[in-house]
Amino acid sequence: MSAGVLRLDAEHILRPVRLGDGAALARAYLANREHLAPWEPTRTEAFFSVTSQEQHAQQCVDDATAGRSVRFVIESDDGEIRGRMNINNIVRGAFWSADLGYWVDASRLHRGLASRAVAQIAEHSRAELRLHRLQAATLLHNVGSQRVLLGNGFERIGLAPKYLRIAGEWQDHLLFQRLLEEPLSSRREGP
Ligand SMILES: CC(C)(COP(=O)(O)OP(=O)(O)OC[C@H]1O[C@@H](n2cnc3c(N)ncnc32)[C@H](O)[C@@H]1OP(=O)(O)O)[C@@H](O)C(=O)NCCC(=O)NCCS
Repeated sequence: MSAGVLRLDAEHILRPVRLGDGAALARAYLANREHLAPWEPTRTEAFFSVTSQEQHAQQCVDDATAGRSVRFVIESDDGEIRGRMNINNIVRGAFWSADLGYWVDASRLHRGLASRAVAQIAEHSRAELRLHRLQAATLLHNVGSQRVLLGNGFERIGLAPKYLRIAGEWQDHLLFQRLLEEPLSSRREGP
């Protein structure tokens, strides 16, 4: 298996977004348009185009190179994209934290894919990125996502009113965090 590729089960891997993913990303977002609409920002028509998704893939590669974020896809063995796992907004200094975001394809829910992928992402964040902490935010009624987080050792740390604009409205979110237990002394100060 090549560098950065993590196996989730017999059929799925987790791998970083790479150049050339635009067409598969566009297919995945189109197939999951209704499934994701209540949980994500409102998307323009252009968002679903290959061109826009290829620009996004380029941005993912640039951000990963700069250490700003590390974004993965869940890929099935037929080469189709079946979900996303994003480590966004990596901040070092006194924080050493990042935001976690994810989704799983509507046809592959309830088989533990998100739970296993979050476990792999947390370990990658600890061991490779040397982060101290991951944080995540869910809508109050997103019970599935809350179960994924709680099952992965995240704890609820608060409620943020009108935290993110989701489905066209500023909506309240529950905030979660997981401390990654990596000793502070091995981390450099500074950016
Ligand atoms: C939330 C989401 C990622 C879960 O993916 P998944 O692969 O089906 O999750 P898992 O199979 O790992 O399920 C983990 C647990 O959550 C439970 N669960 C999953 N979806 C659920 C739902 N809609 N309602 C209640 N429980 C749910 C599972 O039963 C399982 O419970 P267990 O820990 O007791 O076994 C998926 O539903 C999704 O993509 N939703 C839309 C996008 C989204 O909400 N993203 C997160 C934004 S914060």
